[in-house]
Amino acid sequence: MNGEPEKKLTRIGRRRFLALLTAGLALVEDSEGSSSGDHLIDAGPSSLYTSDGIYDKFRDHGFFLVRKNGKLVALSAYCTHRICKLTPQIDHTFACKCHGSKFSEEGKVTEGPAKRDLPVLPISATKNGHLIINVSAG
Ligand code: FES
Repeated sequence: MNGEPEKKLTRIGRRRFLALLTAGLALVEDSEGSSSGDHLIDAGPSSLYTSDGIYDKFRDHGFFLVRKNGKLVALSAYCTHRICKLTPQIDHTFACKCHGSKFSEEGKVTEGPAKRDLPVLPISATKNGHLIINVSAG
């Protein structure tokens, strides 16, 4: 009876400590996520994207740059049906190999099962003219 109750108290203390530690780490992760939650990609200078067409250099980073009629937009590279990566086509559309959805050059759904258009991602520019794409907005 001497050592046993004390041992139980110690065990409970450890469990509580671990629970508090886990909760504390979760709070730290949450606060880090909200303060630096934006995933920004430097796509280089805008002078790299002067011709009309689809630039797929950043497909693996989650977006395409599309220039049409002088306007440059960043479109999510992920199908809105079930998040498969899209493939740009010769006719300047996007196709999803997973279930066959198709999207126009502007990111509009032209064939399902996807129902939502591709998200347009915010583009900003640095002082030296580099384009910054906010991938987390997609
Ligand atoms: S994930 Fe693209 S059509 Fe299903």
